[in-house]
Amino acid sequence: MDPDFKWGVSTAAYQIEGGHDAHGKGLSIWDVFTAKGSCHERHHGNTACDFYNRYKDDVALINELNIPNFRFSLSWSRIIPNGIGEVNPEGIAYYNRLIDECLANGIEPWITLYHWDLPHELELKGGWANREIVDWFAEYVRVCAEAFGDRVKYWMVMNEPMVFTGAGYFMGIHAPGRRGLGNFLPAVHHAVLAMAEGGRVLKALLPEAEVGTTFSGSYIQPKTDSPKDIIAAQRVDALLNRLFIEPLLGFGYPEADLPVLKKIRKHFKEGDEAKMVFTFDFIGIQNYTREVVKHSVITPYVNAVLVDAKKRQVPLTAMGWEVYPPAIYQMIKKFNEYDGITKIYITENGAAFPDTMVDGKVIDTERMAYIQNHLKQVKKAKDEGLEVSGYFVWTLTDNFEWNEGYRPKFGLIHVDFETQQRTVKASGKWYGKFLGGD
Ligand code: GAL
Repeated sequence: MDPDFKWGVSTAAYQIEGGHDAHGKGLSIWDVFTAKGSCHERHHGNTACDFYNRYKDDVALINELNIPNFRFSLSWSRIIPNGIGEVNPEGIAYYNRLIDECLANGIEPWITLYHWDLPHELELKGGWANREIVDWFAEYVRVCAEAFGDRVKYWMVMNEPMVFTGAGYFMGIHAPGRRGLGNFLPAVHHAVLAMAEGGRVLKALLPEAEVGTTFSGSYIQPKTDSPKDIIAAQRVDALLNRLFIEPLLGFGYPEADLPVLKKIRKHFKEGDEAKMVFTFDFIGIQNYTREVVKHSVITPYVNAVLVDAKKRQVPLTAMGWEVYPPAIYQMIKKFNEYDGITKIYITENGAAFPDTMVDGKVIDTERMAYIQNHLKQVKKAKDEGLEVSGYFVWTLTDNFEWNEGYRPKFGLIHVDFETQQRTVKASGKWYGKFLGGD
């Protein structure tokens, strides 16, 4: 493969750091959501993988595995405890140490500015449903660009806005646990405005940086050839795959295929059409599976349902998601079709399986096969001349998988959460050898 292709591994602050109240950190919506016992078996990220204290050892492991690029996110409430106002010097110092540790190990840091852990104080002011968040976010981005921009070249403004607005503000299964269109639609619009504004702030302060943002993308197929199922699939595709990229590219929201989105207009202010547009240097695509869709009269707004993979007799991961490697190829192809996108990285791909430790070893052949088969599809895309410039495995270590707690294991490295001991799994060893060329 092309020597400039970026190989990496991805993580997120809340899922690994712990140190939830260490050294002046403010509460995030995930601290509050988990404290209410909202996740699997009341799991929380108060300690998680203790990456806050063990980052040196984990960066050393990344180095041992020959992984040249490390994607991690910054915790907004560690840096600005109340979300706005005073900056926490110890939060800045922590990320300075982490960035410097990466660089000292020859590892390129890739920063995600927002991976879902909104400062709780901002949620009290309305969170993503309050338009003022566009200014709050722009200020946070400015603080980070000024603090870390001298050493960090690769930036991602957001992680999967569809998931934090959909699961957090529509379905209520992620923090902050809000539901309904009245929360979801303004959250979507403000996330789009904040994403574009964040891109502008970064580019203005760091003109040499590569600035991107990341989107979840699942390949959508209709259950049958019936026109009803085909249209249902188009609506779901508009919601899951097009809602955030198209306004950035200047096409507005995909209202023609999903009419309920017209209601977002209520939240528009003069000039928003232009403010929603921003040309990112790259788009990160995060793919895990495909979805099969059928028409449904009883499901409001989309008139469609996803056919549960468990009922489709297909291979499944521990998340209950279908293992379907061609999905990643299809998503690369889909995003290549937009003229405004010139660079694509796969910023997440990976799988949870029920690992077992035998004689101190985790032989996770399913995960290894999952990654290898997805890489074949990435290579196929590249061989066909489609743009794709990098691939990051989700994730480094087993960690806190949001509402599912510590149950699903996604890591290349096993973590014993009693002792915090790390054990590189067979998949991690394989990835290390593959990248090391031996
Ligand atoms: C992504 C998310 C990650 C991780 C992964 C596996 O949607 O960005 O934080 O949880 O899914 O579910």
